[in-house]
Amino acid sequence: MLLKIKKRSDICSSEITPEPIYHDRRRFMQQSGRLAMAGLGLMLAGCSQEGEAISQKAQVDTMPSQPGPQWLKKQVLEFIPNVYTTNEVLTPHKDVTTYNNFYEFGTGKGDPVRNAHSLKTDPWSVVVEGEVAKPGRYHLEDILKPHAMEERIYRLRCVEAWSMVIPWIGIPLANILKQFEPTSKARFVEFTTLYDPEQMPGQRSSFASLDWPYVEALRIDEAMHPLTLMATGLYGDILPNQNGAPFRLVVPWKYGFKSIKSIVKIRLTEQQPATTWEASAPQEYGFYANVNPAVDHPRWSQKYERRLPGTLLSPNRIETQPFNGYGEEVADLYKGMDLTRFY
Ligand code: MTE
Repeated sequence: MLLKIKKRSDICSSEITPEPIYHDRRRFMQQSGRLAMAGLGLMLAGCSQEGEAISQKAQVDTMPSQPGPQWLKKQVLEFIPNVYTTNEVLTPHKDVTTYNNFYEFGTGKGDPVRNAHSLKTDPWSVVVEGEVAKPGRYHLEDILKPHAMEERIYRLRCVEAWSMVIPWIGIPLANILKQFEPTSKARFVEFTTLYDPEQMPGQRSSFASLDWPYVEALRIDEAMHPLTLMATGLYGDILPNQNGAPFRLVVPWKYGFKSIKSIVKIRLTEQQPATTWEASAPQEYGFYANVNPAVDHPRWSQKYERRLPGTLLSPNRIETQPFNGYGEEVADLYKGMDLTRFY
């Protein structure tokens, strides 16, 4: 199922994709009809141009170009392909960007794409506070600029028992956190989503089922794990607003609700933070939220999932894997813990 994590030193310069080459390649692929092959989600090793072309530029012919800051677009388009990949079929771009959970824009799966297009993501600043040597309010550009963008193709397993395979682009969270120099007291990292009821209709709804702003958190060793990503793009472009622009967390071995969107605050703490879903229903949603087919949600089974896209008649049901298939990489983080208690 896996595949590989490349080290910086394994990456050949031919894999770094400047914007004009990306567009040339995009044109080339459209002309030569290779998109169908890309849709197979083929995994390619090595440093060949062939590998680059097929890697994940699937369905680019139907992708709208995302509006957003030019500096970010430029940086995202220079992503290093295939840093972590899978041989599974990619979920089509259309499903990734129209079937979403982003309750700030409504609780229906189609609400985020309908309502999030007007979210202003530029300028964007992020407050960093707590157990760090360098707290402050940072421009997003200053946080992201020092880092190379990597392509990571990960499974996303929602606690609601649907799943996708998404070609993210982003930066390992560890690299971002190290910039702020966490102190020895930093045991957890808390993230907060933008609170702006004027722009986010779900936050002004009297039917809102959650307390705003949305907050999530990780233990520091989870945050520093090489799989944990701060995503800034998907499918070769910056993130659409409905997917959490301008940057969001992606923790592939945990249920999707841990992967918080549109982050405006990062706080390092000594105590375990209270998180939104756990606070709303602690008997249903735990702090850890590791994907675990052996621990059912009180109202439904977690043994299987619907890999999207599917239909009512053909739901594309597959077995759920412990840690969403990333056990080899992350199970050690939880050695000795009772995962039925710490769900
Ligand atoms: N982040 C915020 N701020 N608000 C949300 O409602 N939903 C979570 C997570 N991050 C959510 C959020 C859930 S339940 C899931 S499954 C994923 O986002 C979905 O990400 P996607 O819409 O990009 O597939």
